[in-house]
Amino acid sequence: MVILVYVDPRGNRHFDCGGSLINNLYVLTAAHCVIETEQRRLVNVRVGEYDISKHIDCVRGVCNPAIVEVQVKESIFHPQYDDDNENLHHDIALLRLNQSIELNGYVQPVCLPLARASPPISAEELLVVSGWGCTLKNQPSNIKQRLSIRATDHETCVNRFASAGTTLIPSQLCAGGEFLHDSCKGDSGGPLMRQSYRGVWYQEGIVSFGKGCGLRGWPGVYTRVAHYTNWIQDTIRP
Ligand code: ARG
Repeated sequence: MVILVYVDPRGNRHFDCGGSLINNLYVLTAAHCVIETEQRRLVNVRVGEYDISKHIDCVRGVCNPAIVEVQVKESIFHPQYDDDNENLHHDIALLRLNQSIELNGYVQPVCLPLARASPPISAEELLVVSGWGCTLKNQPSNIKQRLSIRATDHETCVNRFASAGTTLIPSQLCAGGEFLHDSCKGDSGGPLMRQSYRGVWYQEGIVSFGKGCGLRGWPGVYTRVAHYTNWIQDTIRP
């Protein structure tokens, strides 16, 4: 997982979103994380991060290599993403990095679900979401968090969000909807993952939006990655 680094108009750096490494040159994230606003411009991605507050991260005496920060060379939005559309359809973007990332035991690409090879997600299936977004304290976390949540039946989720005036399409995926068990602000762009029976992690969703956070009956909405793997494969270059 990577964390996206922004600068504000005063030149101060801050974080707002996550992303995932899909090979050593590209990061997958949400389109709404990449849109430039008056408040922020995406500049770098930070790789190998765990605890933002520490220079070197150690857990029980075992330490990670130092983080690596690389510049975003090119931001590629999905052609159908429309920042003015509140439903956040096609909330997906690729970031081409300025230099190739060296992989190690802590920095590895996530697998993508190829439509042909991967079974569709069934309702109630356990998925894992991760990020540095807001926790129960309503503040972003220094330490990367992860949470298991269940995929929501699509029809149920479509109806639920329709009641709030939001139109969901099949290339969006809902998960969660249990009290206090949710992704939240700051988790956007990060991965929602499924572990295959072989133990391999696949990225099935991208954190996109929700209604508040952790409200019972209101799942989080994710971009369904399996619907975009053709676009990803057609867009990335060596
Ligand atoms: N849009 C939020 C962000 O930019 C992500 C919100 C996810 N919300 C949720 N309830 N699952 O970080």
